[in-house]
Amino acid sequence: MLSSAFDFEYLCNLVREKSGVVLDLHKDYLATLHLSPIVTQAKFESLAAFVDFLKQSPFGQFHLQAIEALLINETSFFRDRYPFEVLKSLVFPALIQSRSAQKTIHIWCAACSTGQEPYSIAMLIREAFPELLSWQIWIIASDFSSLALDRARIGKYTTLEINRGLTSELRDRYFQQTGQSWQAIDKIRQMIEFRQLNLIESWHSLPQMDIIFLRNVLIYFDLETKRSILNKVQHTLQPDGYLFLGGGETTFHLSSRFEAVRNQTSLYHRLRNAGSNRLLAD
Ligand SMILES: C[S@@+](CC[C@H](N)C(=O)[O-])C[C@H]1O[C@@H](n2cnc3c(N)ncnc32)[C@H](O)[C@@H]1O
Repeated sequence: MLSSAFDFEYLCNLVREKSGVVLDLHKDYLATLHLSPIVTQAKFESLAAFVDFLKQSPFGQFHLQAIEALLINETSFFRDRYPFEVLKSLVFPALIQSRSAQKTIHIWCAACSTGQEPYSIAMLIREAFPELLSWQIWIIASDFSSLALDRARIGKYTTLEINRGLTSELRDRYFQQTGQSWQAIDKIRQMIEFRQLNLIESWHSLPQMDIIFLRNVLIYFDLETKRSILNKVQHTLQPDGYLFLGGGETTFHLSSRFEAVRNQTSLYHRLRNAGSNRLLAD
């Protein structure tokens, strides 16, 4: 087991350097919980021995495994519900009008974890906007964690996971039960391109996005990193595109280029137009 605070500090520095995520120094018990399976599987004597090994070795697979295990992957289908209602009532109807010539929409889930978020968007499109199925709809879903992405690509969920946010109608229409798990059917898996992308590195390979979901990930970064990521979002979002953050996240004090738009039930962000005098909602 992890024997000293110093060991956990090393892990915190490692996670922060490679992913930007700032771990809570008081939560060393989380390292014990999340790293124990790796320690056991790789037959290290103890967690302390594993951390010593990491400290003495050049960066490699074990370092990556440790970082991925320490990131928070919490997610669920249609998480918080409201962003998806806004997609349905406002965003897609607006894009259907404004993109009717090119018939292309680019959507990016920028920290998609195990895939529930992009699958929710794919289901919403099939349910509410079948006319979009003849368009080019690109859903790019990315994450730092290749382990989470492997799960997302396969689209297999436990009964507990599938019941978090999904109605039984949608579950039965878009997932196939195999034993104790449910797997997304090809129809929705084929709508999503999963790829590994570290938000603190370059995003050059991405097209301009009409919708960006950057939800429940900014909270883990320091101020400087949040600013730098929002600056990159600004250049990746179409001038009339839509940015969705998590419930506890905001662009306020971080970027003056975005304005928050409060809908009846939800909050989303748009790029501020020159000359716009709409007030910040947050
Ligand atoms: C709490 S989950 C949020 C998942 C989903 N967006 C949601 O709201 O349900 C946070 C995700 O951010 C990912 N993450 C953390 N740091 C990252 C980075 N530097 N680049 C890309 N993804 C990162 C984690 O791997 C994790 O899957």
